[in-house]
Amino acid sequence: MNMIPYSRQWLDEEEIASVVETLKGNYLTQGPKVEEFEEAVAEICGAKYAVAVTNGTAALHLAALASGLKPGDEGITSPNTFLASANCLLYVGARAEFADIQPETYCLDPEALKKKINSRTRLIIPVHFAGQPCDMERIWEVAKEKNLMVIEDASHALGSKWRDKKGEWHMVGSCSHSHMTTFSFHPVKTITTGEGGMILTNDPNIARKLRLLRNHGISKDPSEFMNLEFAYPADCSPLTAQGSCGTNFAHAPYSFPPWYYEMHELGFNYRITELQCALGLVQLKRLSFFVARRRQIWANYQERLCGLKELTLPRERDGAQSCWHLYVVQAQERDRLLSHLRLRGIGAHAMYIPIHLQPYYQRRFGYKRGDFPQAERYFARCLILPLYPGLSDEMLDFIVKTIKEFYGVA
Ligand SMILES: Cc1ncc(COP(=O)(O)O)c(C=O)c1O
Repeated sequence: MNMIPYSRQWLDEEEIASVVETLKGNYLTQGPKVEEFEEAVAEICGAKYAVAVTNGTAALHLAALASGLKPGDEGITSPNTFLASANCLLYVGARAEFADIQPETYCLDPEALKKKINSRTRLIIPVHFAGQPCDMERIWEVAKEKNLMVIEDASHALGSKWRDKKGEWHMVGSCSHSHMTTFSFHPVKTITTGEGGMILTNDPNIARKLRLLRNHGISKDPSEFMNLEFAYPADCSPLTAQGSCGTNFAHAPYSFPPWYYEMHELGFNYRITELQCALGLVQLKRLSFFVARRRQIWANYQERLCGLKELTLPRERDGAQSCWHLYVVQAQERDRLLSHLRLRGIGAHAMYIPIHLQPYYQRRFGYKRGDFPQAERYFARCLILPLYPGLSDEMLDFIVKTIKEFYGVA
């Protein structure tokens, strides 16, 4: 029996043709598709800069580094998220702290967040859980008051938007209320590149730093070169125009050999490939269709399940328009219902195990049950039902029927 998954990619002939064409071209990596994909995502989201990387975890890692977080600092995120939202803090030697979630949206509670801030706190990572945008207006207010950096983990939320108190709409990714936003392009997400991720920002210095860190900390920009050991004064350079990688006029005119580069930061190889970006560009053309179809399935579930008193259905926050990455309900007899569904070929899921209850976090930081009661209460009853653009009406009928059968409602 083939299980209906909780999510999956939608790929068509156009994606396949675009990847094949790229395979036949000159560049498999570090070519024009990367920039094209970055510009397209930045434009859709309304941000100035975008830096594509290997996955959403790498995006969070580089964002944490670019935020200036240092060993000994603290960052606060939600306990109801995938491990990467907190692990990125540990990668840079900081401490991962959590603030509890709102019981209605399952996202970071700005008031709980405010109470957790102390003199070591430097960074906040709100997570737009299930695609539902967090209350960024309030989070940004708290961050500004305390002079903190903000990175939105929008792995679930490409295509979501929200309206501010003045009635103005903000795309998630515009960074109108944060310093950076990160996305993941894993196959379960709104669009996919197989594996992939991106960081958006409006700050040119952050964008420059992210680009350096993505590629070993290497600069190939002569105007930034610091070491003149390999340089020629321009007026006695043996290099022709084509033979030089450029001129540095910072001190005096210098030319550099074409092979020259400098390492300015300790970076990584987090480069995404041309093939992934070719795939992403086609996927991006389908973004409005993907979001519309996800919202349609969400509305369909809402309408058909609203009569069941055993379920608490997901509520869209006032002024938010979610891309609905996940359809998450809270269910009575969750474990028995989950088995009932899985035995019948429906890949229901439960997430997230609150991060503070992971053995590693408990051992290292002493977190324990009861520390974040809302996240724990949510997790004890949460159930994720299949939601993805390719989910057919017949599958949805079958899922709804199977749930009703479990609760004895015809
Ligand atoms: C909220 C959240 N943050 C970060 C990530 C990490 O993204 P990736 O799997 O692309 O590394 C994920 C992926 O599942 C996620 O759901």
